[in-house]
This record gives sequence, C-alpha cells and structure tokens, in this order.
Amino acid sequence: MLRDRRVLLIISGGIAAYKSLELIRRLRERGAVVRAIMTAAAHQFVTPLAVASLSENRVYTDLFSLTEESEMGHIRLSREADLVVVAPASADLMARMATGLAGDLAAAVLLASDKPVLLAPAMNAMMWAHPATQANLGTLERRGVMRVGPGAGDLACGEVGSGRMAEPHEIVAAIEGFFARAGRLKGRRALVTSGPTREPIDPVRYISNHSSGKQGHAIAGALAAAGAETILVSGPTVEPDPPGVRVIAVERAAEMLRSCDASLPVDVAVMAAAVADWRVEEVASQKLKKRKGEAPLLRLVENPDILASIARREHERPALVIGFAAETEDIVENARKKRVKKGCDWILANDVSPDAGTFGGEANRITLVDGEGVEEWPQMTKREVAQRLAERIAAALAPRRKPE
Ligand code: CTP
Repeated sequence: MLRDRRVLLIISGGIAAYKSLELIRRLRERGAVVRAIMTAAAHQFVTPLAVASLSENRVYTDLFSLTEESEMGHIRLSREADLVVVAPASADLMARMATGLAGDLAAAVLLASDKPVLLAPAMNAMMWAHPATQANLGTLERRGVMRVGPGAGDLACGEVGSGRMAEPHEIVAAIEGFFARAGRLKGRRALVTSGPTREPIDPVRYISNHSSGKQGHAIAGALAAAGAETILVSGPTVEPDPPGVRVIAVERAAEMLRSCDASLPVDVAVMAAAVADWRVEEVASQKLKKRKGEAPLLRLVENPDILASIARREHERPALVIGFAAETEDIVENARKKRVKKGCDWILANDVSPDAGTFGGEANRITLVDGEGVEEWPQMTKREVAQRLAERIAAALAPRRKPE
C-alpha cells in the first residue's frame, strides 16, 4: 500500500514513456498521490492530457511558465514529494543529472531536490552500454540515487539487449520496497567507519592500504536511507559523502578512535575501515633526507583496535557492534575467532585474496558470522551488501513482540 505517499514522477523522452501511464494507474490504485513533470521530448510519446487524467493532477512541463511558477514553484514540486521517480530515465536526462545541468523543469527540479530519487532507465542497448552512460550511472549511484532495471529483451529500436525499462509492476515494487525500508531505523543512531587510515612517516610520506571506502560509505548511506541518524568516520577516500550522513574526515587510527568515542552513544556501530595495524613510533617533523647507502629504519608500534575498544566498552557499548574480517583463507574459522577476539556481535568476512577483486572493486561476497551461526551471502554489489546489512540491523534492533 502506498496510501498518501507523495510521488513526483518525471517522464523523460523515450518510447517507454507509454509505460509510465500504466505506472501512474498502478500508483493511484495503491493510494499514492502522483504529480508528474514531462520533458519536452516526452511530449512526443505521451500527451500531458493522458498523464493529467490518470494522475488526477495537473502536469508540469515548463521551467519558464509564469502560471506554473506562480501556482507551484519548481522548488516546491520536489519539497512536497516523498520520492522522486524518473521513468523513463533517458540517457540524456541521466547525463544532465550527473553533470548538474538545470536547463528545463525536470533537470532543475532534480538539481534543486534533496529527496530520494529512483531511476528507471530506458534506452537503446548501445547507449546503455556506452562508457559515458555507465560513468554517469556510477556517479549518480554513488550520490545515493536508486535504480530499477533496465531489463534485457527486444528493444523498441529493433535491437535486442539491455536497456528495456523495468515493467510498471517492477517499478511499483521498487517504490514499495523503498517506503518499507525508509523509517525502519528511525530514532536510531548509527556509527560507521570507512576507508583506510593514513599513518605518517614524515610530513610527505605515510603508511596506508588499498581500502577504497566503497563498502563503508555504502553502509552509511543505507543506514541513513533507513532513517538512522548516521555518523561516518572515514579515512581518506575519493568516495562522495553519502546523502543524509554526517561525515567526519580523519587520517590516523588514533584520530578515528577519538572521533568514534566522541560519537557515542549509538545503537549500532559498523566498523568497515581498514585501520592500519601499525604506525611509525616517531614521526619525523621534517622530510627525511636520503643518505647514500643508508635507508632509515622505521620503528612501528601497534595502533589501537577501534572495533575491540568499542565492543568492550563497559559504558555506552552499542547494542550491536559489527566488524569486518578481511581474509584470504579459512574464512569461516578466522571470522569466528576474530568475533570472539574482538568481542563484537557480528563479523562480516570477505575474501580479499587478489583474484576476488574486493579491494576497490564493486562486488563483495560476504560470510556473516554471529552468535547463532554462519550465513553465506551470494556475490553482490557493495551497495546490495549495504542494503541487506541495513535490513538485518533493522530486524535485530526492532523491539521483539511479546508472546501472546
Ligand atoms: N579494526 C579496527 N581497528 C584496528 C584494526 C582493525 O577497528 N586497529 C577493525 C576493522 O575495521 C574490521 C575488523 O577490525 O572491522 C577486522 O580487521 P582485520 O584487519 O581483518 O583484522 P585484524 O584484527 O587486523 O586481524 P588480522 O590482520 O590478523 O587478520
């Protein structure tokens, strides 16, 4: 049911626009309030009259229309929505979203909006596969934009391949899934660590590792999307800040620990950072100079274990403390041992052997070990792992129903 959920539907140009009519009908049947914006190209495929009749609302088309602006400014259009759905999302509109262009009403609303966005891409298979489209999609997804489809099959252009817009019932299911997830962690506080740490040797050199921060950032984004007040303490990464998350940027493990401590109390802590195990005992205050035939000896000392320190706190221990285990062999056995050693509740073990492509890659294969047993998750994108973890966290933190 979508009773009184406010969906702002943006229809861009493409033959799949005819399916948007069916989408509007299904959303209205479920009680959603639908407002629609059409791009100029969309007019070639469906009429504003059809969209207005089915949505039982007026249709917005023109950024520079005095009547439209005076009745409903483009800022208000998104402000008064719970979710923005772009269906079909053409290659052109996705490119404009990714670059931040705002030349028509659809693009201006998307740029001026802080509401969650769901894309249903539809285009020719070559356009979909083009590196430009894929790069734009990557940019949008990193910013937290959600996506349903496209599927593969016969395309309107006569070709066969990927680019077919998801069917209206699939888009409705994605919208219902979004509303079911949103708010599941409302009122909860979450702390996530992400990225590598960087331990200085001198003012220009450091010790670090290959962690990209992709998994930790995706988890923080998923927890925030589920309604948790989320703090992300991150080492240096190029990942954009996930929407709705308070990000604290740190470099060294000691700083990461301090920021984590300062963020307590939280209900759940997910420690996804690849913290450098050691730091240089004495950081040189000036750049170390080369001396012929003599390499400096660096004395290393152990860094604090942030996960163990949070998990073993007597005061303000989060109800759920979750760690990761980067393993290259005996994954389950090592994860079990690590869970006990660190005192955390769940360990998500992942295979970081070089051929698994986990570091810096898009995919992850998780084995979850908790007090009850072992759960093998299939190979998923890091975003899907984040989603599934957020759902499991929400279920674990949900107040148990009293037996009848
Ligand atoms: N971790 C941490 N602080 C550290 C080291 C690790 O918080 N100083 C956390 C990581 O964020 C991760 C978990 O501990 O959640 C496991 O990290 P991993 O590097 O796999 O384990 P180690 O304890 O370093 O064990 P080993 O290197 O011996 O496998």
